[in-house]
Amino acid sequence: MMKKLLISAVSALVLGTGSAFAAGGEAYIEDIAFSFEGPFGRYDQQQLRRGFQVYREVCAACHGLKFVPIRSLSDEGGPQMNPDWVRAYAAELDEAIDKDSGEPRPRKETDMFPTRKGEGMGPDLSLMAKARAGFHGPYGTGINQLVKGIGGPEYITAILTGFTGEEKEEAGSFFYENHAFPGGWIAMTPPLSEDLVEYEDGTPATVEQMAEDVSAFLMWTAEPKLMGRKNMGFTAVMLLGLLTVLLYLSNKRLWAPHKGKHV
Ligand code: HEC
Repeated sequence: MMKKLLISAVSALVLGTGSAFAAGGEAYIEDIAFSFEGPFGRYDQQQLRRGFQVYREVCAACHGLKFVPIRSLSDEGGPQMNPDWVRAYAAELDEAIDKDSGEPRPRKETDMFPTRKGEGMGPDLSLMAKARAGFHGPYGTGINQLVKGIGGPEYITAILTGFTGEEKEEAGSFFYENHAFPGGWIAMTPPLSEDLVEYEDGTPATVEQMAEDVSAFLMWTAEPKLMGRKNMGFTAVMLLGLLTVLLYLSNKRLWAPHKGKHV
């Protein structure tokens, strides 16, 4: 009797949480083989340039990048834009507030990207690719990230390509149905459409392509030193390997005279 009760209590619990998740509409995120994944992953410079183009021509209207210094656009390992171009680009952006005088002044490449605040504006995207990295897989355990490398860039791509075309109005605000967004309805209008930008390298600007490119760019803004870190990790592993071999050999040598002598 006790056992039966226990079993039904446990199964109720398990089924209960299961259906709660189903009702919440667990988002579906597809894996993408980004160039920067894996131990030897590297950013694809052309992709970062395309992604930056999508950001500045589309997303920048509603999303800031307040933690990203504009000059980092010309850093090695990033989109590596020409420094003169970056200087001119900075000057075209919204004015910055001078720290000393508190007055508006032209933005410089040493400043951060502008922020976006107010009605209809979206959250800052500087760290979005990291902030949304770890919660995929069953029950938000992050298993999918560990096993398949699904992370923030996949989430952002899924959001951008997950619109169904349905929209609804609620209390004066519009919501758009999106399979990747938790809850299923997002307050962002579908920002991408076929050929919205014209890529300089001739890549066809499909929605999927633009979504992946801008996600790669946002991974770079969140983690610009990723490649350096991977290189350092690799060097560390090599050195540790070498050390292991040396220790093994010297250990053998040290004990060699005593081996096999049983007194
Ligand atoms: C017209 C304004 C607008 C444009 C353009 C726009 N967004 Fe958004 N975005 C929003 C708003 C508003 C939200 C908040 C939606 C919500 O919380 O329901 C949002 C939310 C998001 C989110 C979800 C964040 C989360 O909380 O998980 C991501 C990712 C995102 N935007 C990326 C982009 C990218 C990338 C682009 C460019 C391709 C873009 N957006 C273009 C307004 C915009």
